[in-house]
Amino acid sequence: MFRFPKDFLWGGATAANQYEGGWDEGGRGMTESDCAAAGSVAALRSKTYRMPDGTPGIVSMFEPLPAGAKLDVVEGQYYPYHDAVDFYHRHAEDIALLGEMGVRLFRMSIAWSRIFPTGVEEEPNREGLDFYHTVFAELREQGIEPLVTLCHYDTPLHIEQELGGWENRETIDLFGRFARCVMSEYKDEVRYWLTFNEVNSPLMMPSFLPNYPAAKMRSNFQVLHNQFVASARAVKFAHEVREDAMVGCMLAGRCSYPFTCDPADVLFTQQGTQEALYYAGDVMVRGSYPAFSRRLWDKWGAEVEMLPGDVEDLASGCVDMITFSYYGSSTATTHADVERAGGNFSSGGKNPYMKYSEWGWGIDASGLRYFLNELYGRYEKPLMVVENGLGANDKLEADGSVHDPYRIEYIREHVKAMGDALADGVDLIGYTPWGIIDLMSASTGQMAKRYGFVYVDRDDAGNGSLDRYRKDSFYWYKKCIESAGEDLE
Ligand code: BG6
Repeated sequence: MFRFPKDFLWGGATAANQYEGGWDEGGRGMTESDCAAAGSVAALRSKTYRMPDGTPGIVSMFEPLPAGAKLDVVEGQYYPYHDAVDFYHRHAEDIALLGEMGVRLFRMSIAWSRIFPTGVEEEPNREGLDFYHTVFAELREQGIEPLVTLCHYDTPLHIEQELGGWENRETIDLFGRFARCVMSEYKDEVRYWLTFNEVNSPLMMPSFLPNYPAAKMRSNFQVLHNQFVASARAVKFAHEVREDAMVGCMLAGRCSYPFTCDPADVLFTQQGTQEALYYAGDVMVRGSYPAFSRRLWDKWGAEVEMLPGDVEDLASGCVDMITFSYYGSSTATTHADVERAGGNFSSGGKNPYMKYSEWGWGIDASGLRYFLNELYGRYEKPLMVVENGLGANDKLEADGSVHDPYRIEYIREHVKAMGDALADGVDLIGYTPWGIIDLMSASTGQMAKRYGFVYVDRDDAGNGSLDRYRKDSFYWYKKCIESAGEDLE
C-alpha cells in the first residue's frame, strides 16, 4: 500500500453560510443565501422576497423575482442557513473534535458580511474580525492550519441586490478591500487561502439546468472575468503581506467522460470540459485566456468587457496551487436516446459502470485518480482535493453511535485513488473531505444530506439539540490519518 507523505495535509472542509449560523449576530450583514428556504431531493430550493408594499412572496431558486421585488426574509418560512449547525457558538467543541481526529488542515470560509456587513463600509466590523481571531487561535492550539475561502457563495446581499453583484466592476474593488483587510489582519494566522469557491460553477449551469437562459450565460462570462481580476489582485496582495502564502483557485471538479466512443461524443466532451473547467482554470493558473475562449464567447454571443490593466493583473496574480471539489464523474453525449443521470455533478447519460448516491450523484473513485492526473499534467502545480464525500441519510442510535459503513467505503476508495495518483507522480498536498462535521446541503438546503464524520442533531425543519456525536467514520478517519493512509480497514 502506498504511504502518504509525512507532511500530507489531512483535513476537513466547511463554509460559513452552510455551517456557521449566527446570521444576525455580531454585526453580520445579510447574504442572498439568508433568503433561501429549504428544498428536497425532488424540489429545487426557493427564495423569498418582499414587494415594495411589503407583500411577501416566494419563487424557485433559479426563477427571476417579480419586477420591483427585493430578496428578504419573510414570516412563516424556515431558513436552514440562519442557524446552520451553529459553529458560531460551538466552535471550541468542533475544533476539539477535529483535533481528536488528527486533522491538520481545516477548510473554512470567512463570511464577507461578518467583516463588511453590506460590503461597502469603509471600516471593518471589529466583532467579526475578533470572531475569526478566536477560531484561528483555537485551531492553532490543536495544531491545525486554517485553509480560508474568501467567498463561498456569500457575497453581501447589498452588493448583489443594489449594485448589480459581480457584473459590476465596482464589486472588484469592494472585494479587494475585504481581501486586503483579512489578509493583513490574519497574516500571522493564515497561510493558505482560496479566492472563490467553485469559480467555474456559473459556466456549468447549462449542463444541469436544461433551458438555462443564454442571456444569463452571457452575463456569467462577465461575472467570471471580474472575479478573475479580483482573485489575481488578491493573490498578489497575499504575497506582499506574507511571502510563503499559498493561494489557490477553487474549481468545481467537472470530470466528464464521453458517453459513447462516437467521435462526436469525444469532441463534445472535450469542448464541454474546456468551457466548464479549463476556461477558468487556465486564466487563474496560467494568467491569460486560453485560445478556445473566442469560440466560447462566440457560441453564447458574449462580449466580455476588459479594461486596460486587466491583462497585466491576470498575468501577475497566478495562483500557487489548484484546489477543487470532486464528488464523482459525469458523462457527456450528443445522443438524445440515453437514460439521463441526475445530481449536480452527474449530468449527461447515466453511466452503467457506476453506482449513484441517494441524491443521484455518481460515485467514481478511480475518476479522482484520472482527474488528478489530468489537472497535474496540464498545470504542474500543487493540488489539493478540498471537497469530496458522500451525502447520505444517517441514523443516530439510542446509544449515540452512528454506523456509516457506506461513507467509510466511499472515503476509503477515494483515499486509495489519491495514493495511486501520488504514486503516478502527482503533487497532491492535501485532502479536506466536505462537511467533516454535518452541515446544511447547498443544493437542497437539507440537513438529511449528511457528509460528516461527526453527526449533528438537527433535522430538515430545524428541530434538534445541535449536539455532536462521533460516527464510525470519525474513528476510521482518525486511524487513516494516524497511519498516513496505510490502515484503511
Ligand atoms: C459544492 C459546494 O458544490 O458541493 C458546497 O462547494 C456544497 O458548498 C457541496 O455543499 C455539496 O453539495 P450539496 O448540495 O450536497 O450540499
